[in-house]
Amino acid sequence: MEEKEIGLYVHMPFCKQKCYYCDFVSYANKYNIVDRYIQCLKKEIIQYANENKIMSKHGLEQKYVIKTIYIGGGTPSSIDELYIINILQKIKENFQIKNDAEITIEVNPGTVNKEKLETYREIGINRLSIGLQAVQDEILKSIGRIHTFKDFENTYKYAREVGFNNINVDLMINLPNQTLDNVKESVKAILNLKPEHISVYSLILEENTKLYEMVKSKQVALEPEEVERQMYWYVKETLEKYKYIQYEISNFAKSGFQSQHNIDCWNQEEYIGVGIAASSFIENKRYSNISNLEEYMDNIESGMPNKNLILDEVLDFESKMNEFMMLGLRTIQGVDIKKFEQKFKINPIIKYCKILEKLNHEGLIEIDANNIKLSNKGIDLANIVWEEFV
Ligand SMILES: C[S@@+](CC[C@H](N)C(=O)[O-])C[C@H]1O[C@@H](n2cnc3c(N)ncnc32)[C@H](O)[C@@H]1O
Ligand code: SF4
Repeated sequence: MEEKEIGLYVHMPFCKQKCYYCDFVSYANKYNIVDRYIQCLKKEIIQYANENKIMSKHGLEQKYVIKTIYIGGGTPSSIDELYIINILQKIKENFQIKNDAEITIEVNPGTVNKEKLETYREIGINRLSIGLQAVQDEILKSIGRIHTFKDFENTYKYAREVGFNNINVDLMINLPNQTLDNVKESVKAILNLKPEHISVYSLILEENTKLYEMVKSKQVALEPEEVERQMYWYVKETLEKYKYIQYEISNFAKSGFQSQHNIDCWNQEEYIGVGIAASSFIENKRYSNISNLEEYMDNIESGMPNKNLILDEVLDFESKMNEFMMLGLRTIQGVDIKKFEQKFKINPIIKYCKILEKLNHEGLIEIDANNIKLSNKGIDLANIVWEEFV
């Protein structure tokens, strides 16, 4: 039997309120269609499973083995836990799941109680990703978050009480009206709780968000890039001092708690995504589902799920190599030279000789016997490095 390990992403596009900075595909006040959407997700899961069964002499056998499941959004924790039970059940019925699979759900403070978290544990979810962003209630309010820091503390406490021992906390920097001192206060409060994993995201001002309009109309101002960099380096150095290993520009973990889901994405491993706007990478093809909710559900319900799929890119050998370099240079360890050679049968230093020489000369990368990685200067100017491999 041919087996292939893959990741599975499930998109839940429901939020209580739209945060002012967020352009993820998620909707406020659409809870009336959750039931219909979940039925569609289940059908999509079955369809993927059926497509990936292969006939052998011994009958129908499965090809895919799931090694990570990531239920993201949106705010998956804001819907009834019965739906999450349903979805995981459907996945288990239709796919083989590795015993040690990492199963994550994104949780917003204020959307779960202890019972809901307990249910998540019971059905096999073993990792929580909690979006905190900042600890100051005025900042949380000013970016449209629905919760206070106290709500976060309660969520975190319940999560520990019901036995979660792998928790990520999301923190954002360079938010409007956020000072370096605010960031220091947030980091201190998070460190006190000792989560296993911390993600730190610099605000990206996305068009089509309320915040974009607020900045454009000068209702709020953002700090210049130097201040944002100061915040970033403060967080990076502090977390490292507290024995968090930085394994990607925005991701820090205690030893052994690096997210497998993240690592696989950067290692160009295969995954499938279900739900609106979810992307998949299978057999060198990158797909994404359409993001229109009604259209997505109509297509599934009328038995035409493939109409939801948009083929974004077919990676030929050359573009696969370029992408491998770009993804590797997001990680702090960098591109593993041996791994590249094994995968593409050429040494990346020979293949990218001119580009690497230039980037090295500009002090943006460092090359040793095993890896090609960003320098400290390269971390600040990572976009310039990545552009070389587009
Ligand atoms: C998929 S989102 C949603 C997770 C969850 N719904 C929440 O809000 O806590 C995951 C994380 O991306 C980050 N994020 C979202 N929009 C961002 C933006 N415009 N710039 C930087 N980070 C962003 C936030 O830290 C957020 O927690
Ligand atoms: S709760 Fe999360 S997904 Fe929803 S709008 Fe806010 S940041 Fe975006």
